[in-house]
Amino acid sequence: MNDGSQMEARTLSRKSCYSGECVETTVPYILSSDFDLVLLRFSGVKGRDECMPEPSQILTIAATGASGAAFTRALLLAAERDQRIKHVNFIVSDNALRVFAEELSIKGRNNLVQQILGGKAKKIQQQNNDDIGANIASGSYPAGAMIILPCSMGTLARIANGLASNLLDRAADVCLKEKRPLVLCTRETPLNRIHIRNMDLAALAGATIYPLIPTFYNRPAGLDEMAHQFACRVLAFIGLPQPDAYEWKG
Ligand SMILES: Cc1cc2nc3c(=O)[nH]c(=O)nc-3n(C[C@H](O)[C@H](O)[C@H](O)COP(=O)(O)O)c2cc1C
Repeated sequence: MNDGSQMEARTLSRKSCYSGECVETTVPYILSSDFDLVLLRFSGVKGRDECMPEPSQILTIAATGASGAAFTRALLLAAERDQRIKHVNFIVSDNALRVFAEELSIKGRNNLVQQILGGKAKKIQQQNNDDIGANIASGSYPAGAMIILPCSMGTLARIANGLASNLLDRAADVCLKEKRPLVLCTRETPLNRIHIRNMDLAALAGATIYPLIPTFYNRPAGLDEMAHQFACRVLAFIGLPQPDAYEWKG
């Protein structure tokens, strides 16, 4: 950003608790004249302030109309399996339904989670994207991180510009204002300058741009393994390392 705004690097000390253990952590942030407080890295923080619930017990997962439905499925499956996650609020845009139909042969929106997972989910609750009064629309609801996978350029644009016109956008907006982790798994290629500028804006407001780019060095056998390893990486990023994640040994 070269618009004359002043950026100053500082650190912020906070007491964090995770599984009953409290630690003092120092979080780097920048102060800018355009944005109040921008955390540079969430992953150094293992938990939120005392009296707050552990961050990852309630997760928000959203899917938008970008390509990559198999990656949404892999993330939902991993979240369903992870016992540290107690509840998942799942939001799907109308355009994501279209992509689900193309890529996963899913029909309509009835029993959507069951259709995606191929079985009943215990803790994934689908939220209506038109319901702006749902729990995650409010900062008072103790939600943890939010992962948007895949994140279309349209949704990125709305989040970066604070439109909050549906539940998905509003839940992301709430994450930013409450300084909660917001992970945008953006998917588009090539990128135009509007996309790049919106990624910059969202990152400056505190979101993490986590492009939907799988790893190849683990030699995945197919799409499902690629998607599963990507889901493992995203979950590890918000503080939930997965037991079967591939680890590069060097
Ligand atoms: C099969 C299919 C694949 C698409 N892939 C992408 C994509 O990878 N990235 C993207 O930004 N938009 C993609 N789009 C276009 C979006 O769906 C479209 O811009 C939509 O308005 C996004 O709406 P949403 O962000 O509310 O879900 C795709 C559309 C279709 C039908």
